[in-house]
Amino acid sequence: MIQSAPRDDREVSIRQATLADAEGLRIFKRTVLSETEYLLQGLEDFDDRVEAERELIGRFLHQPNCLLLVAVMGSRVVGLCSIVGGHLWRTRHVGTLSLGVLQSQWRRGIGARLMRAAMQWAEDNPVLRKLALQVHASNLPARRLYEGLGFREEGLLRREARLGDGYDDLVPMARLLAGGRWGDVQ
Ligand SMILES: CC(C)(COP(=O)(O)OP(=O)(O)OC[C@H]1O[C@@H](n2cnc3c(N)ncnc32)[C@H](O)[C@@H]1OP(=O)(O)O)[C@@H](O)C(=O)NCCC(=O)NCCS
Repeated sequence: MIQSAPRDDREVSIRQATLADAEGLRIFKRTVLSETEYLLQGLEDFDDRVEAERELIGRFLHQPNCLLLVAVMGSRVVGLCSIVGGHLWRTRHVGTLSLGVLQSQWRRGIGARLMRAAMQWAEDNPVLRKLALQVHASNLPARRLYEGLGFREEGLLRREARLGDGYDDLVPMARLLAGGRWGDVQ
């Protein structure tokens, strides 16, 4: 169980999302999706219902290779990190990561804390052997964060995502986990 208790109102705790977080997550997502274009899901695809969040959290809780972490400040969700494991037997060892922090809380170390907690969980997970993600080529802060945590670039997906009025390339990045037969390969 991932949990770290806050000591004051501005302090942030990281923990797994529960069904009770559905409304907090809905508000968080609506805000974060309006603040950044660097998430693959945009407001266009967002289902703005608390019931939708509850169903999503329920699905995460029942999949052994999936994780939904929240960063919480007081009663407010200020960050999110998810891992979605592959659905097929041949790729279920690959967990796809997603990360977002409210703009008002950037540069406080929350993104890095979420990532570290998710990576630790993945290391201990019996199914996962690789963490993967896709980041916009122009999203230098996020690329720097992932590189600092041992993620390596695996190529370039040209014009893969919309950005503003145009398109951006996506950079696939990944980190191999220690438990696999490859050992701790970077
Ligand atoms: C990317 C994001 C998650 C970073 O979250 P954060 O909580 O601000 O990050 P942290 O404070 O933990 O920073 C960790 C490291 O990331 C890098 N970083 C973060 N923001 C940066 C910035 N504006 N410029 C340069 N480097 C940055 C730095 O290496 C930093 O380490 P340092 O503080 O020791 O220099 C956040 O900016 C965000 O949610 N952006 C919009 C959504 C997004 O881009 N998600 C990722 C999609 S792949």
